[in-house]
Amino acid sequence: MAVGLMANVRPCLAADVDVEIELPEDSPEISRHLYGHFIEHLGGVIYDGIWVGADSKIENVGGIRKRFVEDMKRIGAPNFRWPGGCFADGYHWRDGIGSRAKRPRTYNYWQAEMPKGLDHTEINQFGIHEFVQLCRLTGAEPYLAANMASGSPKEFHDWVLYCNAPAGTVTEAKERAANGDEKPFGVRWWGVGNESWGCGGDMTPQEYATLYRRFVTQFPAYQPKPFLVAVGPRGHSKDLDLGWTNGFWAAMGDGHRSRVDGLSVHYYSDFRNTPERVASFDASGWYDVIQKGFGTEEVIEQHWAAMGKYDREHRTKFVIDEWGVWYKPGEEITPAYLLSQPVTLRDAVHTAVTFDIFNRHADKIAMANVAQTINCIHSLFLAQGDRYTRTPPYYVFEMYRNHMGARLAPIHHEPADLKVRSREGTITMPGLSGSASVKGKTLSVTLTNPSLDSALVVNVALPVQVSITEARGTVLTHSEMTARNTFENPDNVKPKPHAVTVAGRRAQVSVPQHAIVSLELQIA
Ligand code: AHR
Repeated sequence: MAVGLMANVRPCLAADVDVEIELPEDSPEISRHLYGHFIEHLGGVIYDGIWVGADSKIENVGGIRKRFVEDMKRIGAPNFRWPGGCFADGYHWRDGIGSRAKRPRTYNYWQAEMPKGLDHTEINQFGIHEFVQLCRLTGAEPYLAANMASGSPKEFHDWVLYCNAPAGTVTEAKERAANGDEKPFGVRWWGVGNESWGCGGDMTPQEYATLYRRFVTQFPAYQPKPFLVAVGPRGHSKDLDLGWTNGFWAAMGDGHRSRVDGLSVHYYSDFRNTPERVASFDASGWYDVIQKGFGTEEVIEQHWAAMGKYDREHRTKFVIDEWGVWYKPGEEITPAYLLSQPVTLRDAVHTAVTFDIFNRHADKIAMANVAQTINCIHSLFLAQGDRYTRTPPYYVFEMYRNHMGARLAPIHHEPADLKVRSREGTITMPGLSGSASVKGKTLSVTLTNPSLDSALVVNVALPVQVSITEARGTVLTHSEMTARNTFENPDNVKPKPHAVTVAGRRAQVSVPQHAIVSLELQIA
C-alpha cells in the first residue's frame, strides 16, 4: 500500500502525462468474458498441457493438470472456447464420450503439420465431459464450436440436446447421465462453425450465411438461452477482410429471421511471414509487435461501422474468439507442440495494449479469447511433463482482473506519439496505453508505456467531487525487453508492488519504460 502526499516519483528522462478519468453512471459494463480463453486439440494444448490423465504422476484433478486449474481460478478465467479452431470442423463429439478405454482414435486436422515421424492422432481422452469438468473446476463457462464443415445440423442439434436437455427428457439426456453427468451442462455460448472462409469449409460469405441459417433455425430450445456466434472476418488480412462482414450481412439481410448474437472476429498480430524472431529481437522487432497490438482498435472500429449498415441498433456484438501474437515456426518448446513459441515481456505489453482497447470498446464486445492459453501461440503457460511455468502475459491477466465485470470509466490523455523505427521504416504509435473501470468504491486504472527509452510520470485526476482514500500500485517489467520465464527460471518476469502517491482527487505514478502499471484506488 502506498498512500501519501505527492512525492518525488520522477525518474530520469521522464515526460509528464495528464490523465483525466470520468465516472459517468451510464457507461457500459466490461464483460468478464473479454478475458476469456481458447483451447484446441492442437500440439501440446490439450494433451500434456491441460490433460495429463488420471494415472499420471503429475498432480492432477481427475486427469486435469492441477497447477493449470489453480492458476486459472486465480485469474478468474471466465470461459474456455473448445474444441477448436480448425480442429472443430473435423470433430465429431460422439468420439469423445463413453468409456475412455473404448474411445476411437481419429484423424486430427493438425496431423499434416506435424514434423516427420511424429503422430497427432486424436486419442479422444478429452471429450465433452472432461471439458465441462475443466470448466466446473475453474469456474469458467463453456463455449463450444460446432462442426459445420464435415458435420450436419443434426449432429449439432444432438450435441445441444446432449449438453442441455434436462434429465429424464430426451434420449441424449439419458445417455449423458449414463456417462456420468445427470445434470445438464448448461452451455450458453455456441459458435456456429470456425473460420468458414478457410479451414472451416472454404466458403463464400453467401454460402456460409445459407448454412448458418440451416444450423440455427431449429436450435433446440432449452435453458440457458443460447448466445449464437456466427463466423466473422479474418481481421489480420491486409484489407481487414471487410468483404466477409459486408457479404455475410448482406446475405442475411433479406427478411431472414435467424438470430446472430455474436460475430466472431479473429485478429492475430501475424508475424508468420516475417523474419521476426520470438525469443531474440531488437528495438524494431519490439515496436512492430506493439504496433500490431494497437491495430486491434482499427479492426474493431471498421467492422463495427460495416455491421452498423445492416444492424442499425447494433444488436449483434463482437466475439473476438481468437487473438494473439503469432510468430513463424522454428522456436517451438518441443517439436510436437505445434505453434508453440517462447513468450516474452514484449507479448505481455502487447496483451496490455490489447486489453485496454477491449475495455474502451466494452459496448461492442461480448467476449474475447486469447489464442491459445497453454503451449501454443500467445500462451499464459508452458508445460511439459512435470515442468511448468507462467509466462509474462499471465500476469497481465492477473493485473487486469479488477476490470472484469466493472463499469468502464472513460479516460482522456494526450501523450505525445512515439516516433520509432520499425522494420518498415519510421512509424508512430501512442506513447501511453490506458483504461479504467469502477466497481463499487474501487477504481482500477491500467497504464502501459511501450517506449524502450523513456519513462513517464502519469498524473491521474478524478472528477472534483471524488477523493482517493487508499492506493495500491503494481508494475510488470524487466531490465531486458526480451525477458521471459522458462522452466528453469519461472520467476524471471513477475509483478512487483509499485509506489503511487495521492492527494485528494489526484494520484501520481511513474510508468517505467516497457512496463505495465496497474492502480487500485479506493474512492469516496
Ligand atoms: O489458433 C490456431 C488456428 O488459428 C485455429 O485453429 C484457427 O481457427 C486459426 O486460423
